[in-house]
Amino acid sequence: MKIEINNLRFTYPTGLEALKGISLTIDSGEQVAIVGQNGAGKTTLVRHFNGLLKATSGSVSIGDWETTKQSTAKLASRVGYVFQNPDEQLFSRDVLTEVSFGPRNLGYEKSKIDELVKRALSLTELSDKTETNPYDLSPTWRKMVALASIIAMDTPIVIFDEPTTGQDAVNVGRIAHVIAELKKEGKTVITITHDIDFCAENFERVIALSKGQVLLDGAAREVLGQEEILAQTYVDPPQLTRLGKRLGLKETVTRQEEFLKAIQ
Ligand SMILES: Nc1ncnc2c1ncn2[C@@H]1O[C@H](COP(=O)(O)OP(=O)(O)OP(=O)(O)O)[C@@H](O)[C@H]1O
Ligand SMILES: [Mg+2]
Repeated sequence: MKIEINNLRFTYPTGLEALKGISLTIDSGEQVAIVGQNGAGKTTLVRHFNGLLKATSGSVSIGDWETTKQSTAKLASRVGYVFQNPDEQLFSRDVLTEVSFGPRNLGYEKSKIDELVKRALSLTELSDKTETNPYDLSPTWRKMVALASIIAMDTPIVIFDEPTTGQDAVNVGRIAHVIAELKKEGKTVITITHDIDFCAENFERVIALSKGQVLLDGAAREVLGQEEILAQTYVDPPQLTRLGKRLGLKETVTRQEEFLKAIQ
């Protein structure tokens, strides 16, 4: 399902203009990372996709729906959004209720709900924690519950807002696996991240935002190679990319296998 953003501007009630004319198209099944300094407008932008925020001017369409003309409840069938802070998202007394809430709310049949919940729990390795209160889990696992509860809704578009922040290497690997599985299913995955190595390893397209505008947008390798421009939004290219440049490699490398090939 295509996302089309046309000259989107958004001003908070405080008078702060957080988005200053953003135009983007994200095609069905794309894997996109959004990067940029704190306050660049990343969260503000994606909150327009599921209608949590409504454009001050310009438009955002999800497939044939213009988001300002649909309720957030309706948009939830097309766009799943995993919050930056799971504590803003989770509210149930146990993991199973939490993860079942979304698909139940979308009105799926019981057999489909059971199947989706089971799959989401297994993908996030939460199958043995169904009776636990999310607040008795570590922040790491709470983040996985937040992921599971959105995955279970089976939306064509899934947005992760800073999924790897504060996560250890094992959990970062789990999150990468979840993203790879969603990709296999043909879903559009949009991930906001400060973790540039994670971005390089898992995404084909990178959008860099700076001060409410698109600074760069293109294939991960092209965008992550633009060290000077990225510096404007305080993003350093991946360690491998910087090392490759220092070694004088002709091609920009962003992933381990490319690096190994280039130095052979
Ligand atoms: N509820 C709000 N009311 C007023 N201003 C806000 C609100 N939320 C965000 N802002 C401001 O809008 C701008 C964009 O914020 P946003 O949260 O979208 O940035 P971000 O790129 O997601 O940053 P971070 O990396 O810190 O999460 C910032 O200047 C921020 O202070
Ligand atoms: Mg944010």
